[in-house]
Amino acid sequence: MAKPDKHIIEELQKLRKEIEYHNRRYYVEDNPAISDTEYDRLFDRLLEIEKQYPELVTPDSPSQRVGAKPSKKFEPVAHRLPMLSLQKVTTRSEFDDFDRRVREQLEVSEVTYVTEPKLDGLAVELVYRDGIFVEGSTRGDGLVGENITPNLRTIRSIPLRLSSKTAEKYPLLEVRGEVIMRRSEFEKLNKTLIENGQQPLANPRNGAAGSLRQLDPSVTASRPLLFIAYGIAETTLEELDSQSKTIAFLKKEGFRVNEYVRTVVGPEKVEREFNVLLNVRSSLDYDIDGMVIKVDSFTQQMQLGQISRAPRWAVAWKFAAEQAETVLEDVEFSVGRTGAITPVAKLKPVEVGGVTVSNASLHNEDEIIALDVRIGDTVVVQRAGDVIPDIVSVIPEKRPPDAKKISFPKTCPSCGMPIVRPEGEAAYRCFNAACPAQVEGRLFHFASKGGFDIDGLGTKLARQLIAKGLVKDPADLFYLKKEQLLPLELMAEKKAENLLRAIDNSRKTELPKAIYALGIFGVGESAALLLAERFQTLDALASATVEELTEIEGIGPKIAKNVYDFFHNEGNRRMLQKMRDGGVVFPEYHKTNTGKSLTGKTFVITGTLSQPRSHFKQLIEQHGGKVSSSVSSRTDYLLCGTDPGSKLDKAKKLGVEVIDEERFRQLVAG
Ligand code: IVH
Repeated sequence: MAKPDKHIIEELQKLRKEIEYHNRRYYVEDNPAISDTEYDRLFDRLLEIEKQYPELVTPDSPSQRVGAKPSKKFEPVAHRLPMLSLQKVTTRSEFDDFDRRVREQLEVSEVTYVTEPKLDGLAVELVYRDGIFVEGSTRGDGLVGENITPNLRTIRSIPLRLSSKTAEKYPLLEVRGEVIMRRSEFEKLNKTLIENGQQPLANPRNGAAGSLRQLDPSVTASRPLLFIAYGIAETTLEELDSQSKTIAFLKKEGFRVNEYVRTVVGPEKVEREFNVLLNVRSSLDYDIDGMVIKVDSFTQQMQLGQISRAPRWAVAWKFAAEQAETVLEDVEFSVGRTGAITPVAKLKPVEVGGVTVSNASLHNEDEIIALDVRIGDTVVVQRAGDVIPDIVSVIPEKRPPDAKKISFPKTCPSCGMPIVRPEGEAAYRCFNAACPAQVEGRLFHFASKGGFDIDGLGTKLARQLIAKGLVKDPADLFYLKKEQLLPLELMAEKKAENLLRAIDNSRKTELPKAIYALGIFGVGESAALLLAERFQTLDALASATVEELTEIEGIGPKIAKNVYDFFHNEGNRRMLQKMRDGGVVFPEYHKTNTGKSLTGKTFVITGTLSQPRSHFKQLIEQHGGKVSSSVSSRTDYLLCGTDPGSKLDKAKKLGVEVIDEERFRQLVAG
């Protein structure tokens, strides 16, 4: 085998440095400096050299993040210093008690604290020897954890090597932090799991934990995990004599640290930070369940010591759960545009986290059975973010004697046809394509902003058009006449004209929007765009085979089959022809020449939008843009919905352009 010469070794070292630099820009700073293609080019070259000279492969090479073999089980590792747990408080006065004890013990009049979000993930420890990441483990019981080194290696925000200065100064460094999964990534992962017929995960925390505890590291590698560093084990290292300095040091060494870490003096300021977190909580792309408050000075920390497994120098101030008790008054069954029948809990109105709640989701029959919930029961409802609340439990002691079992209907509540629960699915479905509730839902979807964008066609009008027999499928919209509209409720001359104009304008739509509008099961705006990009015309898409469809990255086998089935259904073909006859043109789709309309643009999202945030995030990323969770001078646009939070003020202050959904769609369209 050829011996590597000096140039090869130099090139290799340079490549590794470069790749780690770009990893950091991408995974730690959310600010990539090169395109994915350029990154791949560097990486391919690294692999090429290492293949030629296997003796040059070192454990800190970026190539070693993936590819380790699956193991049979996780080996136990003792933590050199125990990983402690935290005492809890839930109110300002409880925190004041904590602060008083700290002051009394330290004999000082005020204390400097570091406040940090309490991240809801999995605690891990990373051991660096001579600056090289050599071992990583879970917290376990605090004394002994599990060795998950190969899995942690796959997380790109974990540096494999620290600076040479640090390696020299701290030959042993144990970094601690939390492995988390972003909410948006979690939603994406669940979508894929469901598509592949696997069980979805309950929450991002389980997503992170489940992904980390995989015996096969290649599974972990495929999961979008982040490591957020929040401390080091040792508190006697030279120069690192406080929590705030440690955070700054970790950041400098290439770790991701949380953006809301603050150093403050006294309980007043601590509470202020707590309220900041409370306010931003729902807009963050990761789950937090409170704030951790740590005495800043390590000398003071040592002076305070610990009681059993919890330090006296730190405390977790937990958010009050956004839960409340109320009575389940009834259950209604709603039919979606795909025919799925969803039980909706009708609750005695109750306030949860500042919002009055009277509906909650019961998801499906299995959920009802698992909860053993009955009409008349007192239930606990929980709100998380802006989504529809859930019923999390039933209080059996409060069940009245006349509580009524919930029986799932046998027939569709909208059309009366028998309903079925297809094998392997959680939901009952109505398979009558002409079912009014489905037609209504499809029509509304068809006319929505992301579809044909017909202004003025809301649910109420959709219902009337169907009830009066004017519209049986979306194609009928293109044949409507003013005389037919005028007799409708709340319809006037002007309104009818506007609607007809909006319908007329929509005749020349764009292909991705038209595909989305068709309402094919599983095809959202981003999948529609992928399909348009690949096939460019509706006819080409309509004659695509399942294999061709599956080849598209981002289109799974289930969606591929749905698309194929849709275009091979006689009724659907007839409807498309009727649209064409009614003047709809499905224009050819050409990607804008740079390919991606949002390349290099950084977005921050705030407020309530027409779709979940993850939806917009996906669109932005697919068009080459990036989403960041906080507004800074590097932000290009703030996508702002209703009830924006403090991000709007910050954007205005910094002169960041604030855009609404409409403007956003224009940007995406290039
Ligand atoms: S410090 C003694 N900082 O909370 C210090 N922990 O009960 C203990 N956690 O399982 C750790 N965010 O995973 C610390 N900013 C943060 C944290 C944090 C979340 C978790 C940690 C541990 C639990 C401690």
